[in-house]
Amino acid sequence: MNTKKLAAERAVESIEDGMTVGLGTGSTAYFAIEKLGQRVQEGLTIRAVATSKRSEEQAIGLGIPIVPFAEVGIIDITIDGADEVDRRLQLIKGGGGALLREKIVAARSAKMFVIVGEDKLVDTLGAFPLPVEIVPFAHEWTLDALKGLQLNPELRLADDGERYMTDNGNYIADCRAEAIEDPAALHAELNAIPGVVENGLFVDMAHTVIVGREDGSIDTLTR
Ligand code: 5RP
Repeated sequence: MNTKKLAAERAVESIEDGMTVGLGTGSTAYFAIEKLGQRVQEGLTIRAVATSKRSEEQAIGLGIPIVPFAEVGIIDITIDGADEVDRRLQLIKGGGGALLREKIVAARSAKMFVIVGEDKLVDTLGAFPLPVEIVPFAHEWTLDALKGLQLNPELRLADDGERYMTDNGNYIADCRAEAIEDPAALHAELNAIPGVVENGLFVDMAHTVIVGREDGSIDTLTR
């Protein structure tokens, strides 16, 4: 069962004519954009903003109108994936490296719909390494500060072995926090470090989490 596709397609059912939609990034968001493109080709009239270059390219290829940020007040619904979701609908995101743009778009959204397979649900966040976007300048010092928080940061590498670079020209430090008991506190600590641009904890941002299950059922969790 493709649990990602299941969740993604259910989320797209909520999109209506006239909406402004935020397009997430990753293999689950990919299915949502595909489905949205299909609905646009069938006559749905929406406009969209994207959280990464690759999602934008996918959307344009499907005929989904991408509009300039200056023309968007509030996004009605953003549909995006996640790496982990806990019982309070707090998230770790950024496995795909787009956490900064994803957070900017989510913060401007009336509703953030998170689409996941059931394997992403956890009791406590932290088994998935927490991505932290850092600026290249003096990044060694930023890594020192992350080590000071006992986060064992590792600079992410791209497939070619070079340092992974985000769409914003920054690095990602993947941090091992093991169990994040207080996501809001860690979020604040991380973003207080000079050199940290943003981190992958999405605290109180998800409005609805749509979970695709192996047996073909779908659960909807709402804040
Ligand atoms: C990208 C993300 C993704 O939403 C997250 O990594 C989940 O990815 P996938 O849908 O491929 O499992 O945060 O920055």
